[in-house]
Amino acid sequence: MTYALHQGDALRVLASLPDASVDAVITDPPYNSGGRTAKERTSKTARAKYTSADAQHELADFPGENKDQHAYGYWLSLLLSEAYRVTREGGALLVFTDWRQSATTGDALQAGGWLWRGILPWHKPQARPQKGRFTQNCEFIYWGSKGAIDGDRNPVYLPGLYSASQPSGKSRVHITQKPVGVMRELTKICIPGGTILDFCAGSGSTGVAALLEGRNFVGIEATAHYAAIAEQRLRETQDGLAREAETRTT
Ligand SMILES: C[S@@+](CC[C@H](N)C(=O)[O-])C[C@H]1O[C@@H](n2cnc3c(N)ncnc32)[C@H](O)[C@@H]1O
Repeated sequence: MTYALHQGDALRVLASLPDASVDAVITDPPYNSGGRTAKERTSKTARAKYTSADAQHELADFPGENKDQHAYGYWLSLLLSEAYRVTREGGALLVFTDWRQSATTGDALQAGGWLWRGILPWHKPQARPQKGRFTQNCEFIYWGSKGAIDGDRNPVYLPGLYSASQPSGKSRVHITQKPVGVMRELTKICIPGGTILDFCAGSGSTGVAALLEGRNFVGIEATAHYAAIAEQRLRETQDGLAREAETRTT
């Protein structure tokens, strides 16, 4: 399996990718959420919004967290429209979001041309309960397809709910890192041997999962810092798979 990682702005890099060159888009853009008021949501950094004060780490910040809801919807629509162009007919789109951006994400998905198929909750069992309130322990994966899905091309039966904690300790290298276990399940929506695109790749969790599941990967990440981490994780995954294959043949 192969991967290509581009460091740069998603919209610019997407514009350089050929039409119908990937089989699925699985992506985790900045949510532009977090905070009780619009001011808090647009003035705080990702690090200030999404890491708790007692977190024992020095994870780097990332950009793109300062749009108000209207601008976020516009930006996401542009991205999902470009992503639609680069996806083959019948391919899938999966976008992570939270409760606050639910309506905006559903609108952007459809504005981009995708057929909206559903919402997959990602349940985080370790979330802290809050006194007098419901626990905020779910994020959501909005999904759709580029036209009709031919189930015979990829005859999988996938769950509609995922449960796993966010990576912690030494394995946590990104503020909003997604668990590879969940990502591996999600990549199965792509045909085996196909290509998955993540235009907000962060530390490369989607790509690691894609390679482990026998899919190729194209990633885009704005920051040099997280692009370097993604590159290292992808290279290590590919090397590990090559070693396993060698052991099997000797
Ligand atoms: C929510 S994080 C993705 C985390 C990733 N799923 C992981 O497991 O590591 C979003 C990422 O998108 C990147 N990003 C923000 N704006 C971007 C842009 N315009 N183009 C490309 N990447 C961008 C951020 O730097 C950040 O690393």
